[in-house]
Amino acid sequence: MTLDIKNTNPWFMFSVLFMCFSLKFHVSSVAADSDTVSANQSLSGDQTIVSAGGVFVLGFFKPGNSSNSYIGIWYKNVSEQTVVWVANRDKPISDIYSSVLRITNGNLVLFTESQKPIWSTDLNSATASSIEAVLLDEGNLVLRDRSDNLTEPIWQSFDHPTNTWLPGMKIGFNKRTNVNHLLTSWKNEEDPAPGLFSLELDPTEGSNQYFLLWNRSKRYWTSGAWNGHIFSSVPEMRFNFIYNYSFISDKNGRYFTYDVSPKFLEKEPQFTSRFIIDASGQIKQLYWLYSDKAWFQFWSTPRHPCQVYAYCGAFGSCGEQTQSFCGCVPGFKPNSEHNWYLLHDYSGGCVRETQLQCENNILANEESDRFLANPDITLPEHPQSVAVRNITKCKTICLSDCSCTAYAYEGNACSIWNRNLMNLQQLTKGDPNGKTIYIKLAASDFSSPKKNKETVIGVAVGSAAFVLLLGLVVIVYLRRKIRTRTTEKEVEGSLVAFAYKDLQNATKNFSEKLGAGGFGSVFKGVLPDSSVIAVKKLESINQGEKQFRAEVSSIGSIQHVNLVRLCGFCSAGTRKLLVYDYMSNGSLDSHLFDRKDSKFLDWKTRYKIALGAARGLVYLHEMCRDCIIHCDIKPENILLDAEFHPKVADFGLAKLLGREFSRVLTTIRGTRGYLAPEWISGLAITAKADVYSYGMMLFEFVSGRRNCEQSEDGELNFFPTWAVNRIVEGGDILSLLDHRLEGNADVEELSRMLKVACWCIQDDENHRPSMSQVVQMLEGIVDVTQPPVPRSLRIFVDNQEHIIFFTESSSSQSTQTRKNTSTASSQIKSTTLSTSS
Ligand SMILES: *[C@@H]1O[C@H](CO)[C@@H](O)[C@H](O)[C@H]1NC(C)=O
Ligand SMILES: *[C@@H]1O[C@H](CO)[C@@H](O)[C@H](O)[C@H]1NC(C)=O
Ligand SMILES: *[C@@H]1O[C@H](CO)[C@@H](O)[C@H](O)[C@H]1NC(C)=O
Ligand SMILES: *[C@@H]1O[C@H](CO)[C@@H](O)[C@H](O)[C@H]1NC(C)=O
Ligand SMILES: *[C@@H]1O[C@H](CO)[C@@H](O)[C@H](O)[C@H]1NC(C)=O
Ligand SMILES: *[C@@H]1O[C@H](CO)[C@@H](O)[C@H](O)[C@H]1NC(C)=O
Ligand SMILES: *[C@@H]1O[C@H](CO)[C@@H](O)[C@H](O)[C@H]1NC(C)=O
Repeated sequence: MTLDIKNTNPWFMFSVLFMCFSLKFHVSSVAADSDTVSANQSLSGDQTIVSAGGVFVLGFFKPGNSSNSYIGIWYKNVSEQTVVWVANRDKPISDIYSSVLRITNGNLVLFTESQKPIWSTDLNSATASSIEAVLLDEGNLVLRDRSDNLTEPIWQSFDHPTNTWLPGMKIGFNKRTNVNHLLTSWKNEEDPAPGLFSLELDPTEGSNQYFLLWNRSKRYWTSGAWNGHIFSSVPEMRFNFIYNYSFISDKNGRYFTYDVSPKFLEKEPQFTSRFIIDASGQIKQLYWLYSDKAWFQFWSTPRHPCQVYAYCGAFGSCGEQTQSFCGCVPGFKPNSEHNWYLLHDYSGGCVRETQLQCENNILANEESDRFLANPDITLPEHPQSVAVRNITKCKTICLSDCSCTAYAYEGNACSIWNRNLMNLQQLTKGDPNGKTIYIKLAASDFSSPKKNKETVIGVAVGSAAFVLLLGLVVIVYLRRKIRTRTTEKEVEGSLVAFAYKDLQNATKNFSEKLGAGGFGSVFKGVLPDSSVIAVKKLESINQGEKQFRAEVSSIGSIQHVNLVRLCGFCSAGTRKLLVYDYMSNGSLDSHLFDRKDSKFLDWKTRYKIALGAARGLVYLHEMCRDCIIHCDIKPENILLDAEFHPKVADFGLAKLLGREFSRVLTTIRGTRGYLAPEWISGLAITAKADVYSYGMMLFEFVSGRRNCEQSEDGELNFFPTWAVNRIVEGGDILSLLDHRLEGNADVEELSRMLKVACWCIQDDENHRPSMSQVVQMLEGIVDVTQPPVPRSLRIFVDNQEHIIFFTESSSSQSTQTRKNTSTASSQIKSTTLSTSS
C-alpha cells in the first residue's frame, strides 16, 4: 500500500494506522470461558481465563486496599478472593486496562501501559507460534506447544511457587535444573512481593527435612526428618486422613508432595484446601468450608508468633503484653505506621524517635547519649564479647563507640551489640530467662517521655498530597487508638461498664445464686430493660485497674455462637464483676449427671452439644487473634441456652487471674479429673491441655456419669480406664453407654466419640489432636484411627486429694499431694492397665 500523504485527510490516516496496528499484532481478546491464552490472544482489564473444570481463574487482581494490580490465580468457587499464585510479585502495574498479558516469541509476557515488558516466563529456546498458556484444574498455569502434546510443559507456574503450596506441587530440589523450589511469604496482605520468611528443603544432599528461614538465613523451625510416613517433629501428621503425602528422592530430585486422597475426595468432592506460608512467618494448612464461607485452619506452626525469628523486626520486641504481640522498645517507633498498625506487618521493625547525638559528631558522654535498662528480655544473638569484668567499663566501651547500640552485663561477662537488635522477646516480670539489656538512646529521650506526634505530622506536610492523605488516616487511627487506651471510662466494643449499685439492684443484692466455682459465685439478675443476665463475682483478683480493663475488653471482643458472650463488667475498687448473657438451661453437668428435675439428654443432643463445645474451643484456640487456652474445660463450664445449644463459659479467666489461676485450679474440687498431666508435671500449658480436658468430658457424654465415681460397695471406678480397654480390645462398646439411653445411640457416632476421647487424653500433648481435628473427626469428615492406650492413663484420683501417675517407661510412682499428706495414703487405690501386646 502506498500513501499520498498530502492528499489524505486525517481520518483516513487514522484508519490506516489502526489497520497497521491490528495487522501487526493479530491480537484478539481471550474468549470469556476459555482456559487458554493462545498465540494470537491477549488478556487485559477484567478479562480472565478459567480452568476447564471451573476450579481456578487467572486474571488481574488487586490485593486488599492496595492500588497496585498483579496477574494471579485464584479459586473460582471460593467467595473470598484467595490468590494462590502471583506472576509479577514485586513488579505491580497500575492500570489493568492498558496492560496486557500475551504470548510473544514463545513466552508469556506481561506488558505495562507503556508497552514495556515487566514480567515474562523468560525462556530463550521457545519460538514456536503454536505455544499457548493453559490454566489447569490443579491451579497450574502451563506453557505448552500445541503441536506436540506429549512433551512436558515447557514452563509451569508450579515450578515458580509463591506463598501457596497446592496439592500436586513439588517443593524441593530439582536435580535437572539445579533449582531449589521454595515457598516465600508475601510481604503483607497488600503486597505479594517476596517477604522475609521462606519454607525450603534442607539443601544438604540426602537430607529430607524442611526449614523455616528468616531472610533465607536464620532457621527458626525444622520439620525433622521424613520417616516414610511423617516428619518427626510434626507428629500431628498422623491424624491426617485427607492427604496422601510422599517424599520422593530419585535421580530427578528430592521433594515432598501431597494430594487429597481419592478415597476422601469420593466423600467430599468439593473439598478445597491449601498450604501457605503466611506473612507472619507461620506455615498453615487451611480448608474452605462452603457452608460457612470461610477458611478454617487444620494446623499451623510455629504455634506462637514470637517463635518466628525477628517477628517484630529490628528494635521490636515480641511478647504477650499487647494484642498484636509486637511493640517497639522504648525510644523507638514503628518504621512504617501504615504497615505496623493497619497491615500487622512488623517486619520493617522500629526506628529511633531521636537520632543519637554521637551520630552528629558530638562527643560521647552522659549528656549526649545514655542507656535505658530494658529488663525481662531475652538477649539478641551474636553479641560481641568484651573482656571486661566491670559493668561500668562495659557501658563506657559501648558509649564510646557510636556503632554500639546496646550492652548487657550478665554473669560477670560484658556483651555489646553493634547493629540492629533482632528477635528481642519481652518476657513477663520475674521470668528466670529474662535478662536486662541496656539500649543506647539520645539523652533528650529521657527528659520528655511523651510521644512526639509532631514528627509524624511534619513528615506528612512535607510530602505530596497523596502521602498527606495517607498520613492523616494514620494519625486519625493512632489518635483513636491512643484515646481508647488512655481514657478509663470507654471500653472497646459494646461492653457496658456497670456501676456496682446497678448490679446489686439487678441481682436483688446477689440473692439468686446460680453456681459457685473456684473463681467466684454466679448470680442471676434482671436489667431494667428486662434482659436476663448472669453476674460473676470474681474472687482472688489482684490485678491493676488498667490491665483488668484491657483483659476484659479483649474477652469481650470474642464472639462465637458456641461461646458465652460477655456483655459487661464492673470494676469498683477491689470488687470485680463480669456480666454475661444468661443461659436458661444452666450447665451441662446438671443434665448429664443429675437424675432429678433436669431434662434427660438423648444421644443426638449429646452429640450436638459435644460438637458445638468443640467448635467453641476451636474458635478460642485458632481463630482469635491471641490463642486463648481455656484451662478449665468441664461440664460445669458448658452452658446450654433455651434450645440446648452449647456455649463454652469462663474463657479468658486464666489470663485475667494470672498466677492465682493455676493455684486455684489445681486445688479446687471437681476440676482435677479433667486436668492434663502437664498441669501437675509443671510442663508448659498449651492448647492441648484443653484437648485433654475435653476428651475426659467426652467420656462423660457417653457414660452419663462422672469419670471418677465411688460405687455402692466403696470401689472407685475410673470410667476412662474401663472404656479405653474396651475400645482397644474391640469389645462391645454399647455396654459403655449410659444405661438410661437404653442402647438408643448411633453406634458409629458412639465409636467415633470414644476413639476421639481416647486420642484426646494421650499423655504426650503432641499425640493429641488439635481441637479442629477433633471437630473434623466428630463431623465424620475424617476417619478416626484406632487409638493407642494412653501410656500413663493410670491417673487415679482418690477423694480428690491424691493424684498418682504410673508410667510404663519408669514404672516408678510419682505421687503429687496437693493438700495434706496426713490423709491416710492407704486409701489410695490404683488400677494399672493390662496393655495388650
Ligand atoms: C489466530 O487468529 C486467527 C484469525 O484471527 C484464527 O483463525 C486462528 O485460529 C487463531 N489462532 C489460534 C491459535 O487461536
Ligand atoms: C462450584 O460451586 C457450584 C455451586 O455450589 C457447584 O455446583 C460446582 O460443582 C462447584 N465447582 C467446583 C469446581 O467445585
Ligand atoms: C481497607 O478498606 C476498608 C474500607 O475502607 C477498611 O474497612 C479496612 O480496614 C481497610 N483495610 C486495611 C488493611 O487498611
Ligand atoms: C494430542 O493428543 C490427542 C489425544 O490425547 C490426540 O488425539 C491428538 O492427535 C494429539 N495431537 C498431536 C498434535 O499430537
Ligand atoms: C537480609 O540479608 C541480606 C543479605 O543476604 C541483607 O542485605 C539484608 O539487609 C537482610 N535483611 C534484613 C531485613 O536484615
Ligand atoms: C500417593 O502418592 C504416591 C506418589 O505420588 C502414589 O504413588 C500413590 O499411589 C498415592 N497413593 C494414593 C492412595 O493415592
Ligand atoms: C568498676 O570500675 C570503676 C572505675 O573504673 C570503679 O569505680 C568501680 O568500683 C568498679 N566497679 C566494680 C563493681 O568493680
